[in-house]
Amino acid sequence: MSSQIDKFERLKDRNLEAEEGGGPDRIDRQHAAGRKTARERIDVLVDPGTFVELDKFVVHRSHDFGMENNKFSGDGVITGYGKIDGRLIYVFAQDFTVLGGTMSRANADKIVKIMDLAMKMGAPLIGLNDSGGARIQEGIESLAGYADIFYRNVMSSGVIPQISAILGPCAGGAVYSPALTDFIVMVKETSYMFVTGPDVVKAVTHEDVTKEELGGASTHHAKSGVANLTADNEDHALLMIRELIGYLPSNNLEEAPTVETKDDIHREVANLNGLVPDDPNKPYDMKELIVSIVDDKNFFELQPAFAMNMIIGFARFGGKSVGIIANQPASLAGVLDINSSVKSARFVRFCDAFNIPLVTIVDVPGFLPGTAQEYGGIIRHGAKLLYAYAEATVPKITLITRKAYGGAYDVMSSKHIGGDINYAFPSAEIAVMGAEGAVKIIHREKMNEEQLAQKIEDYREKFANPYKAAELGYIDEIILPSQSRFKIIQALEMTRNKHKTNPLKKHGNIPL
Ligand code: HXC
Repeated sequence: MSSQIDKFERLKDRNLEAEEGGGPDRIDRQHAAGRKTARERIDVLVDPGTFVELDKFVVHRSHDFGMENNKFSGDGVITGYGKIDGRLIYVFAQDFTVLGGTMSRANADKIVKIMDLAMKMGAPLIGLNDSGGARIQEGIESLAGYADIFYRNVMSSGVIPQISAILGPCAGGAVYSPALTDFIVMVKETSYMFVTGPDVVKAVTHEDVTKEELGGASTHHAKSGVANLTADNEDHALLMIRELIGYLPSNNLEEAPTVETKDDIHREVANLNGLVPDDPNKPYDMKELIVSIVDDKNFFELQPAFAMNMIIGFARFGGKSVGIIANQPASLAGVLDINSSVKSARFVRFCDAFNIPLVTIVDVPGFLPGTAQEYGGIIRHGAKLLYAYAEATVPKITLITRKAYGGAYDVMSSKHIGGDINYAFPSAEIAVMGAEGAVKIIHREKMNEEQLAQKIEDYREKFANPYKAAELGYIDEIILPSQSRFKIIQALEMTRNKHKTNPLKKHGNIPL
């Protein structure tokens, strides 16, 4: 009979064996490819010493294709819980060194277990993806495992934040678990996501495309909008996730944590008085305004290279998290188009689901005209943003810096769709359209240059300002740019206990 000491030794050996993953050769290959192992990634992600691993000794149960002789403790995924800045999170990390990190039934069961725990305990779920996809030897059992995960991704949506990092291959149907989560972080040059790989693309469409071009970080960052964040390397990706978690509540019943700041809530920003150019056609950088008014100049931007005419991201005012949505006059004049509408609509809905107030900064000339937009369905996609703002019940603070024209005025968190406090700068132009366009439509008669200029000036004087909207109560207060920080904080404080519910229904029917 073995002694207690022997039993303890056995446990130690089993632990060591599990921690070896696919063995030194596989680990070397992983490192040579510029990728960390699953355990190394978890070490960077969570606070030191806080990770607790579950199901370390789970093995697959397959007997086909000689798999009964090809078993590894943990079966290619590491699962458990830990802390980020002292707050509980659940994590799974696919271990590419073990059977390519592929999804087996046992492997899926491990992920499902921590997903269920994350829901029960109300804590975020973070998935570190690096996998060859469905474990081919297991066939349908693997597909069933994926679907069990997809189902839980959907049930968890809007209840706990879900974040996916793509740190290697993620292909085929496997892409849909990250796609169902709230945020996707990719790493430049070492990660890729696609529904069908380059070989299938070549066979079906005769296109020659590399993995990087088809589904690398740069593609999903700038072209498809699938990735919310792009990191230079894996450590950067994992640190971005830590930072992101700091802006979020653990679940939909909580508020995001307050982060102490020394940044004075009354701080005036004098140089903002000169930011908005007199000429309405001249661009300026909206990020300058955002960065200069938020706490400690910290703006955590999402999707910075996709639909750059709309800026979205998290920041804090007086230590409290907000979601910022802002038109960017420096890109396509800040116009609303398909991509910018979809980008911001999804962000508005995330913030609303997780009790994060919305601060909307408006300088928008309207919707982008053209067949590409109309054929692409700008009507349907623009409606998403309108819908998202109208249904959002969190505090909604709006600041119009310059243009708020036409339907885009209504869409961008206007008073009429539930803006709680709507500010405007004295430079705001709240009108059906720009002065020049308006005059050309109203006055069809022939005019010389001078007459036209006069009419435009008259129109501008009368309508291209915030006073008509303020007279009607659509703008609550006209403020100086330099006061922006304090005025937004004042509005956020006033709305802190906002409690609004929408009519009871199964769910609405957002124009998808
Ligand atoms: C079983 C797999 C595997 C898979 C990789 N491996 N993919 N085992 N099922 N899907 C194994 C390899 O045999 C190898 O095992 C180890 O993982 C590492 O793989 P390598 O090929 O050596 O690595 P690399 O050269 O880096 O190439 C990685 C790869 C390639 C690009 C991912 O392995 C690949 O193309 N795999 C097939 C991908 C695929 O077709 N997946 C199924 C997609 S369908 P050894 O024993 O040598 O270490 C799918 C459906 C999901 O996923 C549906 C959800 C609804």
